[in-house]
Amino acid sequence: MCGIVALIGSREAAPQLLEGLRQLEYRGYDSAGIATIERTATGSGQLHCLRAEGKLINLTNRHAAQGAPGQCGIGHTRWATHGKPEERNAHPHLDGSGLLAVVQNGIIENHRSLREELQAVGVDFRSDTDTEVIPHLVSRRLAELRAGGALASGTLLLQAVQDVLPLLQGAYALAVVWAQVPGALVVARRAAPLLIGLGEGEFLCASDTPALAGFTRTILPMEDGEVALLTPLGIELYDAAGTRVQRTPTLLSGTEHVADKRSFRHFMLKEIHEQPETAALWVARHLPVGGATGPLVALPLDDALLDGLERVQLLACGTSRHAAQVGAYLLEQLAGMPTDVFFASEFRYGPPPLSPHTLTVGVTQSGETADTLAALAMEQERRRAMADPAYAPRLLGITNRPESSLGRLVDAVLDIGAGIEVGVAATKTFLGQLLAFYGLALALAERRGGSINGRSPEALRQLVDQLRLLPEQLRALVADHDRRCEGLAHRFVDTRDVIFLGRGINYPIALEGALKLKEISYIHAEGYPAGEMKHGPIALLDAQVPVVSIAMPGSVFEKVLSNAQEAKARDAQLIGVGPEGPDTEVFDVLLPVPAVDELLSPLLTVIPMQLLSYHIAAHRGLDVDQPRNLAKSVTVE
Ligand code: G6P
Repeated sequence: MCGIVALIGSREAAPQLLEGLRQLEYRGYDSAGIATIERTATGSGQLHCLRAEGKLINLTNRHAAQGAPGQCGIGHTRWATHGKPEERNAHPHLDGSGLLAVVQNGIIENHRSLREELQAVGVDFRSDTDTEVIPHLVSRRLAELRAGGALASGTLLLQAVQDVLPLLQGAYALAVVWAQVPGALVVARRAAPLLIGLGEGEFLCASDTPALAGFTRTILPMEDGEVALLTPLGIELYDAAGTRVQRTPTLLSGTEHVADKRSFRHFMLKEIHEQPETAALWVARHLPVGGATGPLVALPLDDALLDGLERVQLLACGTSRHAAQVGAYLLEQLAGMPTDVFFASEFRYGPPPLSPHTLTVGVTQSGETADTLAALAMEQERRRAMADPAYAPRLLGITNRPESSLGRLVDAVLDIGAGIEVGVAATKTFLGQLLAFYGLALALAERRGGSINGRSPEALRQLVDQLRLLPEQLRALVADHDRRCEGLAHRFVDTRDVIFLGRGINYPIALEGALKLKEISYIHAEGYPAGEMKHGPIALLDAQVPVVSIAMPGSVFEKVLSNAQEAKARDAQLIGVGPEGPDTEVFDVLLPVPAVDELLSPLLTVIPMQLLSYHIAAHRGLDVDQPRNLAKSVTVE
């Protein structure tokens, strides 16, 4: 989704801004722009603004042709919310004089009334965006302050922005430059991420860490409501009340923020291939080798979070919700813990009655999904309002970005540690989320002691031993299915619809298979619990509609095979995901997955789902890593 970069220092800003935007491309966008301030002989400056619809290359070409000199500037990649993805709606947006420029991520919810108010006093709007009210408001405030005798300065720009922010409702991160003060940059955030990177005599501000790659590892993440004035000499940071704040910068860990495709054709393929490593890291971090007596899993969770727990509620969107559905199955079947899964966007406007002793888990790879964050914040609020301590909030986050807004909101985080994921379609972060749930379910099961749903403590330990084999199993599976799925892709050239079937713990994997295919190949796909097919989707079946059926040995194996027979009787092409053997001969094509404990099977069955979607989309020549209309980090409601 939208990305911000802003630079102030002593070198030309535009090349670094364009490079920063390139690092943010993976988030998804449909237009881009930069504005720089060139210092002129008079001491004030000239503003240069370049914007272009479509991919960054269009903006880069425009920059090559027209240039945008200056050592201070702002840049933006836009994912359309208010107004079509056209050049006139691309950021930066300027005030009426063309001297002040603003980029913004988020949504200004009261933009309509602000726009009407400004139009009533003669302000002309040039775009359909919510953002454009900001340059006009800041400009008006600057004019008022200057009419009172104030001289143009960075401090004046800071004050004007500080005065305007309380007028804005919604969540935002923004950056402002003004031609009158070429050596000043003002940035602010409220409920949307913004980080300041500290270089030598220069500062780079960005909405996401990859934009800081190659610039610095020393960062100052801005807190909610903060505003900062950046000059080549330093940072002045203020809280929402206008009080000066001092904070020590932190270091970005490792090279996790560097996006590198290595020799793979797409980031998504590289990330699918990284899953054995994701699993190996998780095993090393969380499965202590303690023999028959030590704890089953090591998780960084305080007892206070888990003691006396009676219920778990999981809030998530998209792929993360599918991981949560597998998680709910594990928590109920392995740990005997009643668990509900919610679409975060639905929870916000229809939460269930409050239950006591409840753990609320936000599941989000990016840690920035607006709906998930808002749902968590709402739950925190309504629980805090209860006098009874049994209802006190207990918030846990499962994320790949512990430094995200989610990380700051919750009491504890399970960091899935998958390293940066660039492909918009989540793969290794999904596996990481699944593993986090295996860890949580095993930890809760162990705390309960005794047998749960027929699983004894010894059986749990055996499950953990099997989990240790996962990295090797994944390694073999990824290599095998990469080849097989590539060979299958040509069969889908004319396909318009695909049905994915699964049952029990593999039902969410069928949903995930369908979502992956939709997201990157634009083929219509639906996931169903296999037993539901006869209640509707069966009407769609004919020889043109492939059915992908997950059939893993266990409680529902025979049932799924019968459901597959029903599809076969309607001439559907049957693709099976399951172990080789006489049972799975019913399938026209089998994507073989070794028979493992049914509870562990989603960790394996998801691999053919990912690779099938990937190869179908790649065969169609589509932009696999940045599918149309989608964004990696959905920071709007
Ligand atoms: C977007 C992405 C999906 C992702 C969803 C939730 O829609 O395109 O791939 O599953 O957001 O993202 P989160 O960061 O909360 O996991």
